[in-house]
Amino acid sequence: MTPEALLQQAENARQNSYCPYSRFAVGAAILCDDGRVFDGCNIENAAFSPTICAERVAVAKAVSAGVRRITAVAVVGGNADKKGGACTPCGVCRQVLAEFCAPDTPVYMYDTDGGVCTRTMNELLPFGFSAADLEE
Ligand code: THU
Repeated sequence: MTPEALLQQAENARQNSYCPYSRFAVGAAILCDDGRVFDGCNIENAAFSPTICAERVAVAKAVSAGVRRITAVAVVGGNADKKGGACTPCGVCRQVLAEFCAPDTPVYMYDTDGGVCTRTMNELLPFGFSAADLEE
């Protein structure tokens, strides 16, 4: 699947964003090792802290459907009244994505000029905490 195709699925999911407080709508799509794609949008809450990011919604949908390996990630975000643009995963989402990604798993985003920007999981979360740390 091309980066553009996965980013389009993220943009489609973004249309369902529930973000009345920030008006910042985010969509994510994750390609899994069995070929399935799961998507998600951010879901905000009046109490603010229960808000969940688009990426973690997509991961929760995938893992609860039996997935354990993610092979590519796409994230799109921006003002809810506009087409989605540049948005990088927050720190919590990087940690959650890393649990199911390899270090070289690509994460597709847009840069501020509208071009596709690709970073590996390891570039987004170098020296992260992982299961290996529990074995020390
Ligand atoms: N948000 C995401 O969905 N993913 C990210 O990686 C960054 C932030 C959401 C959370 C909140 O609803 C809004 O964007 C503004 O922070």
